[in-house]
Amino acid sequence: MAVGIFDSGLGGLTVLDAVAERLPDVPLVYFGDSAHAPYGVRDADDIFNLTTAAVERLWDEGCNLVILACNTASAAALRRMQESWIPSDKRVLGVFVPLIEALTERQWGDNSPPREVAVKHVALFATPATVSSRAFQRELAFRAIGVDVEAQACGGVVDAIEDGDMILADALVRSHVDALKRKMPVPEAAILGCTHYPLMQQVFQDALGADVNVYSQASLVAESLADYLDRHPNMLGSGTRSCFLTTGDPARVSTRATQFLRRKIEFEAA
Ligand code: DGL
Repeated sequence: MAVGIFDSGLGGLTVLDAVAERLPDVPLVYFGDSAHAPYGVRDADDIFNLTTAAVERLWDEGCNLVILACNTASAAALRRMQESWIPSDKRVLGVFVPLIEALTERQWGDNSPPREVAVKHVALFATPATVSSRAFQRELAFRAIGVDVEAQACGGVVDAIEDGDMILADALVRSHVDALKRKMPVPEAAILGCTHYPLMQQVFQDALGADVNVYSQASLVAESLADYLDRHPNMLGSGTRSCFLTTGDPARVSTRATQFLRRKIEFEAA
């Protein structure tokens, strides 16, 4: 009955942690493609090929349902996967929709026409590939009208986090927030549209100011997965073990992951 959680590297661990807390009895198999991170500077074909290879590996672990805990893969590859690649007995879900439903105060699966919502000025922080896909704006337009979105591509932040260089990550986040504020001086809400960024949430909040409502995905995705599994319990796969798989060096990735989650995490070779 395992569920797979995929990210290009360590960022998806923020989602894994929230899911483990919300669904403590569900075995979780994590796949971090650290050998190929960051995805945010790759083209869409590349991201599709890497993401589908990782998802197949998770299917081999008995995970019929896989969460792409990676906005870049959700933005650049998920639609193509859903249209032409995923067999009918499997599901792959992204991380955008739960976030947009929270922002637009919608219940899961509310397909009514787009309507005016309370929030009008939204800052989106994401990887270059996610920003250039415009997937966030597309999903938002299905649900809300009159929302002004200013997107900031945060080059370098994922590399710094993967390298464990939090001083560099801090400096980069502050400079990306400054750049955003030059385009949108007073955002009401900010979306951390990359699963690595919750590891820097305090820095984003500090740089943006206390008045800005910062949305991050981990708990929203966990809640929406719990709701999905209530309605589709048959999507729990045959896998029974929880484990952490990486395409990178397991010892190095384990050390970083343990630092980030502040509990012992042991990766094995994928
Ligand atoms: N954590 C990922 C995301 O949510 C991917 C970052 C990357 O590999 O560039 O976008």
